[in-house]
Amino acid sequence: DFIKEVSGIRVLEKKLREKLNLDHVVVVPGDSDELPWVKQEMGRACVHYLKGILESNNTIAITGGTTMAAVAEMMTPLTGAPDCLFVPARGGLGERVENQANTICVEMARKAKGDYRLLYVPDPLSEDTYHSITSEPSIKEILDLIKNSDTVIHGIGNALTMAERRRTPPEQVEKIKQGHGVGEAFGYYFNQQGEIVHKARTVGLQLEDLTDSQQVIAVAGGESKARAIASYFKPGKSNVLITDEGAAQKLLREE
Ligand code: BG6
Repeated sequence: DFIKEVSGIRVLEKKLREKLNLDHVVVVPGDSDELPWVKQEMGRACVHYLKGILESNNTIAITGGTTMAAVAEMMTPLTGAPDCLFVPARGGLGERVENQANTICVEMARKAKGDYRLLYVPDPLSEDTYHSITSEPSIKEILDLIKNSDTVIHGIGNALTMAERRRTPPEQVEKIKQGHGVGEAFGYYFNQQGEIVHKARTVGLQLEDLTDSQQVIAVAGGESKARAIASYFKPGKSNVLITDEGAAQKLLREE
C-alpha cells in the first residue's frame, strides 16, 4: 500500500509538472485544508528541496504567510550552504506580525544558521512616500539584495481571503471582485486567466523583477487553493511548486 501510495504521488507530480509547465513539482500526501500537519510536511519538503539547490553565500527572499511560517518551522541548519542571507521579498502588506515576511525571515535565518536583513517600511505607501523611501540609501541597499536574490520562496493565497486578511480598503476589494480575482501572490491579485487585477503598492520584489536565472519556489496547498494556484501559474513566473495532494488532485480535475 505504501509503495502504491508513493507511486500515485509520483504520477501526480509528473502530471502537474506537465500541466503547469514547471521544472519541478513536489506533492506531499494529504490535504492541508483538513489536516494542519500537512502544511508542515510542505514546509519540510521545501527545506529538503532548498538543501539540494542552495550554495554558500546565497541570498534567499521570502514572503510571509502561514505556509512560509511552516517552512521556517521546519528549517534546519544549512550545513551544505553556509552564510546564506535571508531577506523579506516585500514590505509587510498589512499582515499580522506573525504572518509578516520580516518575522519569518528572522526565524528561518536563525534555524538555518544563516543571517538576515529586514525591511522596515510602512505599507501601503502613497506615491510620494514610495519614491522618497526607495531612494533612501539604507533601504536601497536592501532592495538591491532582494532584487538580486538567488532564490525566492513565496506563498499563494485566495484573492479575497488575502485582501481581507490584509485589511485592504473597500474600494480595492471591490476592484479585485470586479476583476474576478481568484489568486494572490506577494501582493499581486490574479484572475482565472492569470491577468493582474490589482497590485498592492509596497516596496520590494515586483513580479517583473523575477528572472529565469533565479529559482522561484511557490509553496501552497489545500484543495481550497487549487484555483488560486492555477491563476498564479498562468503567466508562469515561478518554476517550482511545492503543494499537497488536496490541491494537486483538484488542479488536475479542473479544465
Ligand atoms: C503572503 C504572501 O504573505 O502569504 C502571499 O505574500 C500568499 O503571496 C500568502 O498568498 C499565503 O498565506 P498562507 O497563510 O495561506 O500561507
